[in-house]
Amino acid sequence: MSNNAKARVIGMGSYLPEKVLSNQDLEKLVDTSDEWIFSRTGMKERRIARDDEHASTMGAEAGRRALATAGKSADDVDLILVATMTPDYTSPSTAGLVQQMLSAKNAAAMDVQAMCSGYLYALTTAKAYIESGLYRCVLVVASEKMSSVVDYTDRNTCILFGDGASASVVTGEGAGLQVDTVSLGSDGSLAELIWIPGGGSRCPPSAEMLESGKHYFQMSGREVYKHAVRRMASTAQTCLDTAGVTADQISWVVPHQANLRIMEAITKSFVIPSERVYKTVHKYGNTSASGVAIALDDLTREHALSAGERVLLIAFGGGLTWGAMVLKQVEG
Ligand code: ACO
Repeated sequence: MSNNAKARVIGMGSYLPEKVLSNQDLEKLVDTSDEWIFSRTGMKERRIARDDEHASTMGAEAGRRALATAGKSADDVDLILVATMTPDYTSPSTAGLVQQMLSAKNAAAMDVQAMCSGYLYALTTAKAYIESGLYRCVLVVASEKMSSVVDYTDRNTCILFGDGASASVVTGEGAGLQVDTVSLGSDGSLAELIWIPGGGSRCPPSAEMLESGKHYFQMSGREVYKHAVRRMASTAQTCLDTAGVTADQISWVVPHQANLRIMEAITKSFVIPSERVYKTVHKYGNTSASGVAIALDDLTREHALSAGERVLLIAFGGGLTWGAMVLKQVEG
C-alpha cells in the first residue's frame, strides 16, 4: 500500500433485529397517535433488539457481513472501532467484545462516543489511522441498542428510537467509497440538551437515581431541532467547500435519520432535490450512531455507484456533536 493511499470503505454490512415496533404498537404504550408520529418525524416503525441481543452482538454480526462483502477475513483487521452510546458495559469497551466475537486476534480495539454523530467520528478516526500508515484494515462498527436507554412511558422520546448496527471495512486500497473530505464539530456547553444524566461517575447508580429516571435518555426536542438544522446545514456546506464541489455534483445525500422534517429543511438550503436524499427513517426510526451507516449500506445495495459519483454524509447528535463527509466512488 502506498504511503499516500486515501482511506476508503471497501465493504459494508448491517444487522437489524427482527422485532418491529410500529406506531400502532406505541399507541398502546403512551398517549400518542400514528398521525402525530408520522407527521412530526416521518417514522412508521423501528426495530427492537431481543433481550439477548446487545450492541456487541449486533455489531459483531454487522462486522461479519461487512468483512464478507469486502472479501476480508477477521485476521486481516488490525483495528476495531465501535461507535456507540449504548455500550454493553460502562467498561470495558464494546469494541473489545466485538474483537473477541469475531476472533479478530490481530486487532486493537476501542470505542468512540459521539452519540448520533458516532459513525462519522469513527470513520474519520479510521481515515487518520489508515492515512498515517499505522493501520491497514480498520473495521468501523456503529451499533446501538437504544431500547435499553429509552423510557417507554415518556412519549417525547420513546417514539423516536430503534436498534440496529452497521459495519464498514476501511482500507487504503481497492474499489470503494473514498473518504475525500471531512468536517467535524462539537459544542460541549449544550451537553444537557441530549443526555443520559445518571449512571456515570458524576451520578453513580443508586436507588434514588433509578427512582428519578436519570438512567433514561432525555432530550429537549424543540431546542435540539433548531441546532440540528443549523449545524447540519453549515457543516455540510463547509465540507462541500473544502472538497471544492457544489451540491449538483453530489449524487446522494445521506443525513442522520432523526426526523424527515430536519432532512427536508437542510437539503432545501442546498437546493438538493428530495429524491437524492436517502431515507430509512420511516422503517428504522433514529438508531443514533448507526443510522447514517445503515442508510449508506442500504443506498449502495439499492443503487450501484459509478466511479466518480459522490455521496454526502451529514450527522448531528448529543454532545453536541456534528459532522459531514464527502465520499467518492473509486475503482480498485
Ligand atoms: N405524541 C403526541 N404528542 C406528543 C408526543 C407524542 N409522541 N410527544 C410530544 N407531544 C406533544 C408535546 O407534549 C407538545 O405538547 P404541548 O404543546 O401541549 O406541550 C407537542 O406535542 C409539541 O411537542 P414538541 O416537542 O414541540 O414537538 P416537535 O414538533 O418539536 O417534535 C421532535 C418533537 C420530533 C422530538 C422534534 O423536536 C425533533 O425531531 N427534534 C430533534 C431530534 C434530533 O434531531 N435528535 C438528534 C440527536 S439524538 C441523539 O444524539 C441520540
